[in-house]
Amino acid sequence: MVANRLPVDFSVSPTGELSWQRSPGGLVTALEPVMQQADGAWIGWSGAPDLAHEPFDAEGMRLVPVTLSAQEIERYYEGFSNDTLWPLYHDVIAPPTYHRQWWDSYRRVNQRFAQAAADHAAHGATVWVHDYQLQLVPRMLRDLRPDLRIGFFDHIPFPPVELFGQLPWRRQIVDGLLGADVIGFQRNGDAANFVRAVRRLTDYTTRGPVITMPDAEGRPGRHVRAQAFPISIDSHRFDMLARTPEVQARAKEIRRDLGDPDIVYLGVDRLDYTKGIRHRIKAYGELLEDGRLDVTRATLVQVASPSRENVGAYQELREHVEILVGRVNGEFGELGHSAIHYLHHSYPAEEMAALYLTADVMLVTALRDGMNLVAKEYVAARSDEKGVLVLSEFTGAADELSPGPLLVNPHDIDGMKDIIVAASTMDEKEQRRRMRRLRRKIMTDDVAKWSESFLSVLAAVQPRPTDEP
Ligand code: G6P
Repeated sequence: MVANRLPVDFSVSPTGELSWQRSPGGLVTALEPVMQQADGAWIGWSGAPDLAHEPFDAEGMRLVPVTLSAQEIERYYEGFSNDTLWPLYHDVIAPPTYHRQWWDSYRRVNQRFAQAAADHAAHGATVWVHDYQLQLVPRMLRDLRPDLRIGFFDHIPFPPVELFGQLPWRRQIVDGLLGADVIGFQRNGDAANFVRAVRRLTDYTTRGPVITMPDAEGRPGRHVRAQAFPISIDSHRFDMLARTPEVQARAKEIRRDLGDPDIVYLGVDRLDYTKGIRHRIKAYGELLEDGRLDVTRATLVQVASPSRENVGAYQELREHVEILVGRVNGEFGELGHSAIHYLHHSYPAEEMAALYLTADVMLVTALRDGMNLVAKEYVAARSDEKGVLVLSEFTGAADELSPGPLLVNPHDIDGMKDIIVAASTMDEKEQRRRMRRLRRKIMTDDVAKWSESFLSVLAAVQPRPTDEP
């Protein structure tokens, strides 16, 4: 496994001692059994500047930390990954910034990840590279180690070529990805966008989802497959967690703390401009203004977990969201009745499960999102088959889960207001019918199934004679 982050967080004690804790994430839970069986290694950034650590064994696998300097964090991670690629791949909701120095750093850091993978992979091993931070690794790794089977999974959207084409280094990115044998995407549309980019930017032959790479003599060589594998969550773990007496009791406590409103709305997001938090709050504020919602009977809980706080667009977003929350609360709140409970924190899974159980209406209104796992967690937590999921059409989850959620276009504030009202007044029978359908899907299509299906397609790749060492 090669991913920007390791599945552990390091911390340094006041006396300077380094320790680590497992970081809760669906990806590691899904891959742990596979990694243990295969004697696997996970290569990733240690998470802090200049933090160096020898490879070590944890969670039944070998963890190989990659060290990044403060300047590399600024240029490769905050810069190229999160101020160039992230906005470009999310429909340019924020303007992407193009800096040649950031690109140079991205290339250098990708090369370091590729080298670490080459150093740790056994002969003929399978290497799975993850996400937009590491798109050059497949090609770099293949050059270093032609014996490997290489998979890549893009966790975020892949943009239409009309947007992707803005990137000065578009050709290098396409060639980087094409070093893989299988390139996985969240939606069919993302895979199709990638194949269109290959057609537009290269002269490689494509046939449906298969791209044929020329060999050294220019004859047809290796095949690369670009296909959708929608990611999921550890549904059973979430379902079980939400059924525990502690979480159930906490959900009741939260409701009491909120003043026992008739209806609780919930938003849970990283504080990111792709999530449509402002659009959601605007719609909510207007519903209070129009008198279609009553602040003494309804409340919105918005969890906005801190994210990428050194990137300008994220700092601006925080300002805007906090001004908006303040305005709505100031204008429509009453003593003992906040319109919005805004929480700029991250919470452990237990607290999240309790919040999901409290939420009568879950608002997922992203402007663009590769998948959106919050929507899936909400469903997995609701074994009581109650609650309504309002879901943006611009998420990978909408492609997969419809019908079941109430779909919204977050750009259409009036339309979103009507959907929020419809969700609030939906009778229990209809809630149950929809939630049952959603749960059938999510409880079967979990993250273990996702990784199995990706790895089985990758395992079916025939190593070509030219790929032999
Ligand atoms: C998205 C990306 C991940 C990333 C996560 C958190 O889900 O697809 O690759 O790890 O956001 O962002 P961060 O920048 O904190 O790793």
